[in-house]
Amino acid sequence: MAPEPDEELKDEKNPRPLDEDDIALLKTYGLGPYSTSIKKAEKEIKEMAKKVNDLCGIKESDTGLAAPSQWDLVSDKQMMQEEQPLQVARCTKIINPNTEDAKYVINVKQIAKFVVGLGEKVSPTDIEEGMRVGVDRNKYQIQIPLPPKIDPSVTMMTVEEKPDVTYNDVGGCKEQIEKMREVVELPMLHPEKFVKLGIDPPKGVLCYGPPGTGKTLLARAVANRTDACFIRVIGSELVQKYVGEGARMVRELFQMARSKKACIVFFDEVDAIGGARFDDGVGGDNEVQRTMLEIVNQLDGFDARGNIKVLMATNRPDTLDPALLRPGRLDRKVEFGLPDLESRTQIFKIHTRTMNCERDIRFELLARLCPNSTGADIRSVCTEAGMYAIRARRKTVTEKDFLDAVNKVIKGYQKFSATPKYMVYN
Ligand SMILES: Nc1ncnc2c1ncn2[C@@H]1O[C@H](COP(=O)(O)OP(=O)(O)OP(=O)(O)O)[C@@H](O)[C@H]1O
Ligand SMILES: [Mg+2]
Repeated sequence: MAPEPDEELKDEKNPRPLDEDDIALLKTYGLGPYSTSIKKAEKEIKEMAKKVNDLCGIKESDTGLAAPSQWDLVSDKQMMQEEQPLQVARCTKIINPNTEDAKYVINVKQIAKFVVGLGEKVSPTDIEEGMRVGVDRNKYQIQIPLPPKIDPSVTMMTVEEKPDVTYNDVGGCKEQIEKMREVVELPMLHPEKFVKLGIDPPKGVLCYGPPGTGKTLLARAVANRTDACFIRVIGSELVQKYVGEGARMVRELFQMARSKKACIVFFDEVDAIGGARFDDGVGGDNEVQRTMLEIVNQLDGFDARGNIKVLMATNRPDTLDPALLRPGRLDRKVEFGLPDLESRTQIFKIHTRTMNCERDIRFELLARLCPNSTGADIRSVCTEAGMYAIRARRKTVTEKDFLDAVNKVIKGYQKFSATPKYMVYN
């Protein structure tokens, strides 16, 4: 084992190389008596934990974050340092396009213009003139093509969550539903039929009728049924403070719609912007008119066999600008009239479906008692009937409640009804 001290001194010039036993001995220096077994146990524990994690798989937590045991902070940090934030620029011109040494003129806002090349991850076909691009901060090379800029308030108009209204929730209106589906669904599902016949499918539908007859309701049912992207715009949202803003929003709206595979744009209460043009001498309404003209322009702009359908709803069709309504823009006009007896019965049934009613209520009789009333009136009757039942501390609604409610709503609220006024205007 260890050499004798005097021998060691003698051999100082060329010491004897350590043999394996020596190395093993050296390795034990500074080790506690159980270190090796502890180390072994730790290794086993680690392996066991890894096995357990593998078997569990990656689970989604409530917050959407991975479990803390799976965080890899070090490599995340490294990745973040490697990837520098890009800067937004606009590619204004391509020099020598379609050749090997194509160069790109970019305009970084408020800094300067540069002539740059492409990054490694971008292909020349991705970049077009006038496009927004992301550039790095060192060489200003184009690293990524960016989508066009669209106002967030326009993006927000997309209906992401499907409304829970279906065609079954619309009482009556058979004809209207049929007409609407013909325009909206047929050209999207069977475009070849129109190509064969050589006609252009209608681009849009105008729904009009007295308040509360289910125009908005039907549009929501359409949104529910379709897989297409549904954009809902309220007319008044397009009225903006500054000149040209409303028109720009319309433009961006249709730009967004065109980027989708199929899209339905629904303008509710379109009389807010679609009023007939007139000169009030002051020019206060000019802005609104410009917005409307932009809609007209965009309606002309897209191909009828394309994938955008426009629905509009209003209850004052007489005030709309004729330019908006002319055939070729909004070809179809669907009137939502007052429901007839059968439809009213159906609407009663729809709105009492979820209510706790007595059995065999004579809905037809009730429908007979509400002549000239709209779907909204009938809904109000049902709610009032429920209120009567609550007042009497009952758990079910009886026919008497309904009769009382009819008296209250139909007779009592007649002077608030907008329907006669609508009849006068149209
Ligand atoms: N045909 C119908 N079937 C079932 N419910 C209806 C029908 N028509 C109206 N309703 C009820 O009336 C309510 C109001 O209807 P809706 O919002 O569609 O009116 P509208 O025609 O858009 O009126 P406005 O022109 O004032 O906007 C609906 O939420 C629905 O409960
Ligand atoms: Mg409405």
